Amino acid sequence: MLFDVFTILPEVFPPYLESSILQRARQRGLIDVRVHNIRDYTHDKHHTTDDTPYGGGGGMVMKPEPVFEAIESVLGLASHLSKPQPVPVILLTPQGRVFNQRVAEELARYERIALLCGRYEGVDERIREHLVTDEISVGDYVLTGGELPALLIIDAISRLIPGVLGDPEGAQDDSHSMGLLEYPHYTRPPEFRGWSVPEVLLSGDHGKIERWRREQALLRTQQRRPDLLEKAVLTERDREFLRKEER
Ligand code: ADE
Repeated sequence: MLFDVFTILPEVFPPYLESSILQRARQRGLIDVRVHNIRDYTHDKHHTTDDTPYGGGGGMVMKPEPVFEAIESVLGLASHLSKPQPVPVILLTPQGRVFNQRVAEELARYERIALLCGRYEGVDERIREHLVTDEISVGDYVLTGGELPALLIIDAISRLIPGVLGDPEGAQDDSHSMGLLEYPHYTRPPEFRGWSVPEVLLSGDHGKIERWRREQALLRTQQRRPDLLEKAVLTERDREFLRKEER
């Protein structure tokens, strides 16, 4: 999977991309992240990427010319319209649809995506109307720019790509992938400061362990994120367990 990132802060990307799992995924050719500096596509002496808003008011707005030129020269003109594999051009903005595991799964199906990191107070609306094909927010809070959201999205998508996580089932049990929060994990030692690992996990009875994990996931979701339970796919046995717990 190829990620093209368009930003005025390219230097923030390498430290994260060069660490651990993403570094290994890049070395193995499972993902490739190309970071493009929008400033390289300016033609004035000061390499201007922003300007004051028409109509007045505070803040600065990202200018359209360098953004169009950067994206069009990297992707090829109107390449996001090409078939059979269009390249979505995604603007990171608090005004976008909210990112979650379903959106990560949806985007993981593309061979290539472009991520445009908004900065300043916003981007010239013509970028939105005529260049961008999707807008994503990583949550209902405002950051100083789209760089962290872009890294977050690259991370969430990359770990869904087969081979990126060492364990082939790695992403299957995750919190959110099955619509529930994940069950608790334990490792050695079996007792630490008098706190013991639940007996069932030491029992070697895989059926029992699986059931316990499912129930813990259900309980945790009921306690912390009851909103998720409404959408989760539950068996009759799950429902019976939750009814019993409520009593
Ligand atoms: N840029 C600033 N805040 C953001 C957010 N919450 N999501 C995506 N991009 C942003």
